[in-house]
Amino acid sequence: MAERGLFVVLEGIDNCGKTTQSRYLKDYLESQGLPVIQTREPGGTEVGEEIRGVLLKNRARMMDPVSQTLLFYAARKEFIVNVVQPNLGKGVHLLTDRFEASTYVYQGYTQGVDLRLIDSLHDDVVVAACCKPDLYVILDITAEESFRRIENQNNLGQDHVFENQGLGFMRKLREGYLAFAEKHLEEVVLLNGMLSEQDLKIQIGLYIDLLLGERTDVTGKI
Ligand code: TYD
Repeated sequence: MAERGLFVVLEGIDNCGKTTQSRYLKDYLESQGLPVIQTREPGGTEVGEEIRGVLLKNRARMMDPVSQTLLFYAARKEFIVNVVQPNLGKGVHLLTDRFEASTYVYQGYTQGVDLRLIDSLHDDVVVAACCKPDLYVILDITAEESFRRIENQNNLGQDHVFENQGLGFMRKLREGYLAFAEKHLEEVVLLNGMLSEQDLKIQIGLYIDLLLGERTDVTGKI
């Protein structure tokens, strides 16, 4: 039976560079001949992409934060059943842009959804399916830097609800990620997202090597 793949999640406030680092990491793992899938949340499945459409359009502005949370978890359940479990089970490594840390930060910390609700969904949807990530990589940048990058890319989409809420909101999101990192020390690496792409790439690679090494120690092979 194939050894279970690693489940690595990249997180952070908008424009922190997680998608770029996820691509580097994919290349790194593939260069070692390891099977890897790069994906994102919400999304990753047909139903998940449809739910993503509902959540990220302007109409989400009208949506109650608890309703948002439930939709994110509906998409997450689909993602777990159709993508995470089958691939990890086959020994494929999974790199995902965003996962539960986003819900804790965006819906819980920032929009006030009761953390007991998120904890309970976490238990029933993620823990029960044995799909907790092996590692969260959080790229920490300031709210100001996030906006600077948005302006540089000129990509502030009219309909991108979560990115359109201002500096105060972005600061609160950052605080949320720092709080999440502090609370989940064992599963989170918090990296300075202001470092160069190359430096971050090297640092993330080192953490992944450690995880892969631990697997080698246990079984004698990867
Ligand atoms: P996306 O276009 O993927 O943004 P990014 O490139 O910044 O990841 O949009 C995802 C948005 O959804 C992002 O603003 C964060 C938000 N989100 C939540 O609010 N809760 C969640 O649980 C998840 C997974 C994402």
